[in-house]
Amino acid sequence: MTTAEQTPSLPKFFSRYESRIDEALRTELLGLDPDMYNIHRYYMGWQEIDGTDSNAGGGKRMRPTLAMLAADAVGGDLERATPIAVALEYVHNFSLIHDDLEDMDRMRHHRPTVWAVWGKPSAIISGNAMLKIADGAVWKLRAIGVEDSIALEVEAELTQQYLKMMEGQYLDISFETEESVSVTQYLDMIERKTGALIEASIYLGGLIGPKSGPNRQKATALKAIGHELGRIFQIRDDVLGIWGGKETGKPVGADIKRKKKALPAIHALNMSHGPSATRIRDIFRNQDDLTEKDIHEVLEIMESLKTQEYCQSMATERWIDCKRMIDSLDLSGQTAKEFTELGEFLLVRES
Ligand code: IPE
Ligand code: IPE
Ligand code: MG
Ligand code: MG
Repeated sequence: MTTAEQTPSLPKFFSRYESRIDEALRTELLGLDPDMYNIHRYYMGWQEIDGTDSNAGGGKRMRPTLAMLAADAVGGDLERATPIAVALEYVHNFSLIHDDLEDMDRMRHHRPTVWAVWGKPSAIISGNAMLKIADGAVWKLRAIGVEDSIALEVEAELTQQYLKMMEGQYLDISFETEESVSVTQYLDMIERKTGALIEASIYLGGLIGPKSGPNRQKATALKAIGHELGRIFQIRDDVLGIWGGKETGKPVGADIKRKKKALPAIHALNMSHGPSATRIRDIFRNQDDLTEKDIHEVLEIMESLKTQEYCQSMATERWIDCKRMIDSLDLSGQTAKEFTELGEFLLVRES
């Protein structure tokens, strides 16, 4: 098989919402002139660094797609879910502009990151501005006829989940200098940094979708599914952070270089014995930059401990529970099957 055949592609339902999401995202930046917004257009994949048009495409647009899928799953109206979808994608991209700086990553999606091109102050400012663009999108809820009380509830929930994401980012950075992090601490951290926005996408799409008012029981059940999908997503992300191929557009072993306490590192640090335990702890304690040899040694220890298999099996366990939740819900049309396609994709995705 060729590499192209092996790379799992996005589930088909992503294309159902693609143009609606793209148009709505672009609308938020229309008429915004100062140069700062060219940084945003670059990061979203619509422009090159020099301001010329680009088809780079940006990311998967998973969060807005999930908001749409959840709205469809409750027989809802996609227009009502659009402001939330847009807001979530902009908050996500804001978090990535800052995340690249926090993690000192110079590449994402095979392109230089904002701080690597425009410098750290510009990355901080343009990231903050992007967060405000997300707020602007949410304020459109009332203009499209969403009732005040629901709009207010959605705004409050979004703010809470954005804060949770930031709490997770803070924990992630503070774990870099912790000697030992437990799996429980790790799960708490990823539920915040990644889970919060994924959970919010599915919950809020489901909550706001129905024109006749929310079906709270169903929205809450969807939220629980979002919670599990968020964990699965980040566990796979951590696998890709070590063994990711060229599809990630980021260097291999990047997480080890940064001494990230991602799941593979936690497993290797907690499970190794004897000389390998001493060695891996020394490597992660090292104040200096790690050499290629250090990274190779860590990879060898992980190999001997079957760390990758451990991470994948943890994701698979979560998926078994999640699939049960999906099957127990009476979701509209094909959407139960589509949530299942998503879960299966998240377990094996390469980018
Ligand atoms: C990457 O998320 C950042 C994390 C939360 C782990 P995605 O992989 O969904 O990012 P893009 O938007 O598709 O690049
Ligand atoms: C990113 O986590 C989470 C957020 C941006 C909130 P990571 O740092 O693990 O994600 P990648 O690997 O850089 O995409
Ligand atoms: Mg990162
Ligand atoms: Mg990070």
